Amino acid sequence: MKHIRNFCIIAHIDHGKSTLADRLLDYTGAVTAREKQDQLLDSMDLERERGITIKSHAIQMEYVFEDKEYVLNLIDTPGHVDFSYEVSRSIAACEGALLIVDAAQSIQAQTISNLYLALENDLEIIPVLNKVDLPSANPEEVTDDIVDLLGCDPEEVIHASGKTGFGVDNVLKAIIERIPSPKGNIDEPLQALIFDSVYNPFRGVETYFRVINGSIKKGQNIKFIATDKNYFADEVGTLKLKQVPKKEIQAGDVGYVITGIKEAKEVKVGDTITDAKTPTTNAIEGFEDVKPMVFAGIYPVDTEDYEELRASMEKLQLNDASLVFAPESSAALGFGFRCGFLGMLHMEIIQERLEREFNMTVITTVPNVSYHAFTRKSPDKTVIVNNPSDLPEPSILDRVEEPYIKATIITKADFVGNVMSLCIEKRGQITNQTYLTTERVELTFDMPLAEIVFDFYDRLKTVSKGYASFDYHPIGMKQSKLVRVDILLNSQPVDALSALIHADNAANIGKKMCEKLKELIPRQQFDIPIQAAIGAKIISRETTKALRKDVTAKCYGGDISRKRKLLEKQKKGKKRMRQVGNVEIPQEAFMAVLKLN
Ligand code: GTP
Repeated sequence: MKHIRNFCIIAHIDHGKSTLADRLLDYTGAVTAREKQDQLLDSMDLERERGITIKSHAIQMEYVFEDKEYVLNLIDTPGHVDFSYEVSRSIAACEGALLIVDAAQSIQAQTISNLYLALENDLEIIPVLNKVDLPSANPEEVTDDIVDLLGCDPEEVIHASGKTGFGVDNVLKAIIERIPSPKGNIDEPLQALIFDSVYNPFRGVETYFRVINGSIKKGQNIKFIATDKNYFADEVGTLKLKQVPKKEIQAGDVGYVITGIKEAKEVKVGDTITDAKTPTTNAIEGFEDVKPMVFAGIYPVDTEDYEELRASMEKLQLNDASLVFAPESSAALGFGFRCGFLGMLHMEIIQERLEREFNMTVITTVPNVSYHAFTRKSPDKTVIVNNPSDLPEPSILDRVEEPYIKATIITKADFVGNVMSLCIEKRGQITNQTYLTTERVELTFDMPLAEIVFDFYDRLKTVSKGYASFDYHPIGMKQSKLVRVDILLNSQPVDALSALIHADNAANIGKKMCEKLKELIPRQQFDIPIQAAIGAKIISRETTKALRKDVTAKCYGGDISRKRKLLEKQKKGKKRMRQVGNVEIPQEAFMAVLKLN
């Protein structure tokens, strides 16, 4: 154990975690030239294309330092706030963390929130000033910022570049010298923390763990404490670039186990693995079920594809346990599913995966958060509202609560006014304002989650000219004056377009919705009235005017092959459109409420 180091890399998004991780792998020879590929640890295609880490990954390196052989377990963590639970579990599996700070960007919101997580877990922090090769790098100033934040000596900050490889040797030296070796007792009953799992279509779910006490052996009967299920350890091993099967993984080390589990949801990140016969009495603290934050309907473009969509979602869930879904039906869209996501990015990823991996074209409805409603008849009984159309009628409704978050925003002093106005517009209440340096300010707000899951990031970027970073965590439910704004097209209510909106903004949002829908709904042979209503009261109206001329007319009677070609082309492109009554609604219209500004 003396020669093991378990560490993670934490940083604000895009500060260069994955790139630096690649350099560490190169340097220690964990990757041969042939295996080399940019951002090696981001193994999903989507991860590579988007340049973001979606899942955490772990990899073991061997490194000889001052004639002693060391085993270094690196746990790479995702940077996006949607996946922050995985960051916290990865952190819990380590003794130390490299805190990467971009030398041009300095400290950002997730730098701080991840640092706090690491400090709560008593990790040794190694500050790394990254991207020093950039012409725009500002090493002196950013080093000062880091020193202020950590209260460390300037000499402790390692200058590095993931791009050129500069400073990588110093990073490795610091990992060995500054991060403590793991403690733990091999003779105690098995206690291992699950920090990740990966779905493998051939071998089932691979569970990644860190052994705290005892050891896990091939052929052992093991138990997952939170799910209370027993399994047989078919294979255990360490995680190099490929898996290396071993007989045993002992306290202090990181490894994987394969038990033939076929569904991702059986393995919960944060759960404790123990021995089935002589279980530990101590589950590792802090386990929580990951809860979806954003809900939306997913409907097949072709109603006939419903069963196929169900099968695809079930398969997707096998390897992404954080996706939840339940069948729902909409008067407008027919049969589909109400799905829960960790955030908007997660939702986009699911939609994209359905398309790429399962060839499904789907319509996604306006996302919303999960509300709690209470009726007058039973004011203590929570009605969970994951779909605005499930909100009890105003006549029986007692009150509604919505989820709130604590938002942390770091920006330049010049933009404080803009950021505050934006947050107040989004129903935020400022709770703190701290000058980190004379230039940089940290603001904290209590805000409704509903206001930030949508266009908040984009607006924040605009009002701060890109100089703001943002992070949040949930703080519970609060009562709010919410009403349901319904949309009627051609006098028919379209349930999939309803949204819950704060009463004070409802009239304004209703009006903007109508205007936006007028832009988005294609003109047809007849006038289409677009109305917004609260209950029976119409609050706004627009009209999509009829087309003056029938443009498809020229297809009739004329060249039939041309028409067929047109139809075929349409089929192939399977436009994301839904016919509701006699109105065609394009996908963008379902998202209109998100893009009103
Ligand atoms: P997430 O995984 O999405 O959180 O991002 P990350 O922190 O892993 O960042 P990543 O390694 O993907 O790097 C982000 C961008 O910065 C990429 O375009 C890299 O090529 C670039 N980059 C990373 N390290 C350096 C560096 O040392 N110098 C320069 N010039 N660019 C770098």
